[in-house]
Amino acid sequence: MASLILASNRLPIQLLKDGTIKRTTGGLSSALEGAGIGEQYTWVGWGGPCPSAGRSEEDLKTSLRSLGVEPILLSEDEIAGYYDGYANSTLWPLLHYMQERSRFDARWMPFYQQVNEKFATAISEIADEGAQVWIHDYHLMLLPQLLRKKRPDLKIGFFLHTPFPSSEIFRALPERDALLNGLLGCDLIGFHTYSYLRHFISSLIRILGVEADIDGLWHQNRHIQLGVYPIGHNRDGFQKAATTNTFLQQHSAHAKHLGSGKMILSVERLDYTKGVPEKLQAIRTFLESHPEMRGLVHFVLVAVPSRRGVEEYEALTERVQCEVGAINGTFGDVGHSPVQFLHRSFPVEELAALYALADVCMVTPIVDGMNLVAKEFIDCKYPSHRARPGVLILSEFAGAAHEMSHAILVNPHDTAGVAQAIHTALDMDEPQMWKRIHAMQRRLELNDAGAWAKRFLADLSSATSLSHCPQHA
Ligand code: G6P
Repeated sequence: MASLILASNRLPIQLLKDGTIKRTTGGLSSALEGAGIGEQYTWVGWGGPCPSAGRSEEDLKTSLRSLGVEPILLSEDEIAGYYDGYANSTLWPLLHYMQERSRFDARWMPFYQQVNEKFATAISEIADEGAQVWIHDYHLMLLPQLLRKKRPDLKIGFFLHTPFPSSEIFRALPERDALLNGLLGCDLIGFHTYSYLRHFISSLIRILGVEADIDGLWHQNRHIQLGVYPIGHNRDGFQKAATTNTFLQQHSAHAKHLGSGKMILSVERLDYTKGVPEKLQAIRTFLESHPEMRGLVHFVLVAVPSRRGVEEYEALTERVQCEVGAINGTFGDVGHSPVQFLHRSFPVEELAALYALADVCMVTPIVDGMNLVAKEFIDCKYPSHRARPGVLILSEFAGAAHEMSHAILVNPHDTAGVAQAIHTALDMDEPQMWKRIHAMQRRLELNDAGAWAKRFLADLSSATSLSHCPQHA
């Protein structure tokens, strides 16, 4: 039994083909690791599309439970309909304003509903009386209400890691009423920014006719609190990584390789919301207009493979590989390719070494709920980490832009503007770079992953459990 339960689609583990289980480091798992909320919680989620290596379901569950996680096992059909389908082909693009990519297939919602039910059943079986349940992200928007029906005693919180789009976009969803009603099963609903919260409130009134203000609403004789909780990065994780041997080795090797050259880094999941083709266009424009820089700059693109079961992602990978080849063919020379495309994930120690050395970090998503790379880069810029100063180029459409005004803010669609920002960043003098870095670091220190999680959980625990509206009493 558990008094605190986290529920997310993805567990912070990976089942490897040989049957062993490994911890993973996604945005959420590192945030919660940094939160320091100890081991007194159970994490309910899906282990990912990995084979169970011949293990029985029970055996698999037992070994996962020993890691403090309660696995939700999904069938092939559920993976296709719920994860690849409704979550990642309907909701993900729509929540990121990409209506033209959002596919409405009536066969998917029943699987989304079914998997949300599975979560509700699993949680209701392990939750202590009055336990807190913190639900994460767009995969589980029906879960709060399903759980509330089974266990009215629970304190239920939901945090959306993506943007909540304008109601004009959200109302295009055929299942919009069901999703909003699902969320109204919560005691607390949190977003990264005030804009997302305002959009949610507009959707409630326009779609359900339910009125709310920025603090919350009354619905069916229950109070639902609303709030803004911009997620922070895992500060401790990065500070520790910067003291390891791997970090030092990687740092020396890259520094030697760079020599007097300049590193322009980007790190992201290879996702169409991240604006990689648009960034490559800007890189091409920059190299065209600054021939003197061609042999000096190293664009290092770390692109972590993602959601390979979804067609759009396969097409994007091919498109990006093709454009990288074309840029290198045009602007490269014997012994130097301006763009290094690294299509894999990197351990945190290696990422920290890249962040510490990079002269510029380009975080230029088309739309992004928050973006932790921007925060991680700035927080690796300490002289004690042998860091070079660096400049952050940040899309104004990332949630992080609300907090990081000392970055060079860009519109990722404006190719010439982004190319100009690269030039401005490379031209900036060191005192100016440090001034901007310090201003951003001061803010990051106050709101790291731990602070974010503590704030949300404190609000969840104090969320009123009045069962009727005082005005109507
Ligand atoms: C985004 C979502 C997360 C998700 C992550 C990785 O950050 O907000 O919920 O876990 O992408 O995507 P994946 O489909 O691999 O879990």
